Amino acid sequence: MLRIDVLTLFPDVFDGFLGSSIVARAIASGLVQVRCVNYRDFATDRHRSVDDSPFGGGPGMVMMCGPVFDAVGSITRDCDPPPSLVLLTPQGERLTQPMVNEFSGERHLLLLCGHYEGFDERIREGLRPREVSIGDYVLSGGEPAAMVLIDALVRLLPGALGDEASTTEESFSAGLLEYPQYTKPRSFRGMEVPEVLLSGHHARIEAWRRAQSLERTRRRRPDLLTDANDSNAPI
Ligand code: ADE
Repeated sequence: MLRIDVLTLFPDVFDGFLGSSIVARAIASGLVQVRCVNYRDFATDRHRSVDDSPFGGGPGMVMMCGPVFDAVGSITRDCDPPPSLVLLTPQGERLTQPMVNEFSGERHLLLLCGHYEGFDERIREGLRPREVSIGDYVLSGGEPAAMVLIDALVRLLPGALGDEASTTEESFSAGLLEYPQYTKPRSFRGMEVPEVLLSGHHARIEAWRRAQSLERTRRRRPDLLTDANDSNAPI
């Protein structure tokens, strides 16, 4: 069982996500446990403050050390081994499939979502989390990034996908984009399903799919063909 704790100022935004689809099913069948904890529960003043203005001036607010360290301490106190800390930030290492594969082998993750202008630097210094970005754009908070990470790793847990073939089947196209897929009807508004897929000839179908994967990758993401890519999952 993979355990994921999420520290956030907005635990409610996870409700729909955790209650639907593959993630909900993985939770219900005990493959993963996800718990959202509010930093605000660890605030110490009467306003329940978790952020303050930056020293040196400037716009926005900064997440304070106290509630973050106390929240992390409260979650990790009884954990042996301690969870791996992941801080979601646009300044982090870019999330890739090989990284997700790595995370899916962990037993316990603690995800820290930031808000406002960022975290007091001593949170990085003192907690040494792995810093992860989901792309080169700025979100108003780390929550959507945490959901992206949770979704990508839950689908890798054995038994999470209804059809086990979904991830093993994928692996033949190592690091390439997926080939085009079709379902019934054979003909739709004058658009036909490629003949080879109706042939029942498995070797020919596999060769066609492989060629389509390569061609699609060459056109859309040539960087995937040149970059070192040791992922064994298609994208
Ligand atoms: N928080 C704000 N922007 C983010 C991003 N791009 N990735 C991860 N966390 C973030």
